[in-house]
Amino acid sequence: MNVTLPMLASATELLNEKKHKDMTAHGAPEIMYGTAWKEGRTTELVEKALSVGFTGIDTANQPRHYKESLVGNALHSFLEQGGSRQDLFVQTKFTPVAGQDSRIPYDPKADIQSQVRQSFESSLADLRTDYVDSYLLHAPHSFPELADADWEVWSVMEELYRSGRARSVGISNVNRQQLVSLCEKANLRPAIVQNRCFAKFGWDRAVREVCRTFGVTYQGFSLLTGNPAMLRHPKVAELAEKLGKTPQQVIYRFAMQAGMVPLTGTTNSNHMKEALAAVDFEISEDDVEAIEEAQG
Ligand SMILES: NC(=O)c1ccc[n+]([C@@H]2O[C@H](COP(=O)([O-])OP(=O)(O)OC[C@H]3O[C@@H](n4cnc5c(N)ncnc54)[C@H](OP(=O)(O)O)[C@@H]3O)[C@@H](O)[C@H]2O)c1
Repeated sequence: MNVTLPMLASATELLNEKKHKDMTAHGAPEIMYGTAWKEGRTTELVEKALSVGFTGIDTANQPRHYKESLVGNALHSFLEQGGSRQDLFVQTKFTPVAGQDSRIPYDPKADIQSQVRQSFESSLADLRTDYVDSYLLHAPHSFPELADADWEVWSVMEELYRSGRARSVGISNVNRQQLVSLCEKANLRPAIVQNRCFAKFGWDRAVREVCRTFGVTYQGFSLLTGNPAMLRHPKVAELAEKLGKTPQQVIYRFAMQAGMVPLTGTTNSNHMKEALAAVDFEISEDDVEAIEEAQG
């Protein structure tokens, strides 16, 4: 199903194309390691993920679900052992007050733009780095449209991008109309979207269509946990059997060929290796189409 988007004037297209080039100059990896819900095991698991070959690490300045400073410890030991910062793609998020518990990593009474600046500084300190490769707004303040607060946040994200300390900026948990609005009206278009991806909702096709149209990288989460029926789907089982892969690898491979960057938050070393190995095989376009159309 194609999503009809408004036609853009050619001058705007050229400008957007330039913006897109700017934003994607710093390439994201094909699959990323997610650090949510790892608690006291965060450092150990991120170190493990880096040692088996992940280069993309996703976190957030949201103590309720993520331990950003423990991610920073793992990044630090990776660098201490001779790893290069340039080889890593480090992504974190500004989480608005509504997404925090009592451990808010900025002054909740400050104006929203100061909150973003404070959260960003605290993320750099946590992660022991002087820049992040990607900085996301964790979720818009309102639905179905963006709120004024989101535009205020976005203007600080643009400022952080211009400073070179956020090498790309993006948004998470966004719907189609919010994303179109941001892509069309922002001075700097988002480079990255990170969304939950359920087969039963068409694998978030409407948002992915917008990403394709505007050249935005789509990162998908809940690909396994959100799609248990797909892990048992006959097409997935058939491909897994034929290719000697696990159903989880087939789902990750499908996601990549459908234009997504999958996130995995596995705690298991073998599952980490399996997820990375999904980069190294292919399924046919017909099989991609069949899984796209499956209602999971
Ligand atoms: N932006 C947002 O609002 C948001 C929300 C949620 C998540 N995220 C990001 O996305 C990341 C991933 O989260 P997720 O919700 O997709 O779930 P997840 O944390 O990746 O959970 C995956 C589940 O599937 C299992 N699993 C993983 N690989 C497997 C394999 N090869 N075979 C069998 N089981 C496997 C894991 O168990 P094992 O540990 O035993 O492998 C785990 O129970 C998070 O860490 C976070 O960075 C972002």
